[in-house]
Amino acid sequence: MQNHPNKIQVSAKAPSNIAFIKYWGKYGVQLPLNPSLSMTLSDSYTKTSWTLDRDEDYALEVYLDDELQPSFNAKIEQWFNKLPEEFNFLKQSKSIIKTHNTFPHSTGIASSASAFAALSTCLSQLYSNIYTNELEKKEISRLARLGSGSACRSIEGPFCEWGEASNEYATKLDEVHENFKSLKDAICIVSSKEKTISSSIGHAMMNDHPFKDARIKQANDNYTELKEALRNGLFSKFGEILEQEALSLHALMMSSKDSYTLFEPNSIELIHQIRKFRNETNLPVYFTFDAGPNMHLIYPESIEKDVQNYLEKLKGDGFINLILYDHLGDGALICN
Ligand code: PMV
Repeated sequence: MQNHPNKIQVSAKAPSNIAFIKYWGKYGVQLPLNPSLSMTLSDSYTKTSWTLDRDEDYALEVYLDDELQPSFNAKIEQWFNKLPEEFNFLKQSKSIIKTHNTFPHSTGIASSASAFAALSTCLSQLYSNIYTNELEKKEISRLARLGSGSACRSIEGPFCEWGEASNEYATKLDEVHENFKSLKDAICIVSSKEKTISSSIGHAMMNDHPFKDARIKQANDNYTELKEALRNGLFSKFGEILEQEALSLHALMMSSKDSYTLFEPNSIELIHQIRKFRNETNLPVYFTFDAGPNMHLIYPESIEKDVQNYLEKLKGDGFINLILYDHLGDGALICN
């Protein structure tokens, strides 16, 4: 048995990520039906501190911006229940978790990805304190996956893939051409309404979706082609697949048995506007969407000014409420 202090405090920050190849549909314990690949963000992150008191009985308090959020307990306790048994100390101690997001709530930035990546990085520190043994990045990614699938792609950066080396965790993508090393993401908020359908329900609808097999094939083909485009610097091929993936994701939602639509009128308007802008200027700017109405616009740093000017004009015309400018990042960090 190691000697350990009974009260441990750790903290970490972790960014969100935006998928180029979408994870949609799962089996078993948060295992993906298809491989996915994403860009790790930088400025859109969650910072979390976690105090574990092993002298106290089990209790969980979660705060967002210093306000107690009892409604967060259920999701975190579900995660505790999925963790391997060496983390059972969580069920015998008091945890106080304090968290802050740098981005506004319900803006289409996956807060569950950054939240569970930050929690898992904190948990890896608690683990090292208790067992005096470091967890590898892939182990931290595996812990994050158990909280929210896409969170496993937020541990490292600038690009991560999940479902290639293993379905259990994500790994960093190494072979990326210079053309993609300065990627930007302008997140165009058209609606801050709460999502009507959670992504868990969306994933579940893939189980008996009429296009399930076709989607798995499409995702695998797109994944292989996108990796080739990233390796060889083929920006327009990259963009073509990026847009197809986002539109397929939303088409799958609309064509599921319990059909639903997350696009808002301005999501569609922006698709038209960006295609027109690209046709007129020939600039390499392409869109994607998460499971929500807000567009993520992906482009290289070299055309940053042109894109910003155009987006600010669209905002002035009332098509966009808010724009968050982000860029590639390196993943989660311990903040002790
Ligand atoms: O991690 P979840 O269960 O919130 O699912 C996220 C799914 C998408 O954001 C739509 C796609 C992805 O790969 O991130």
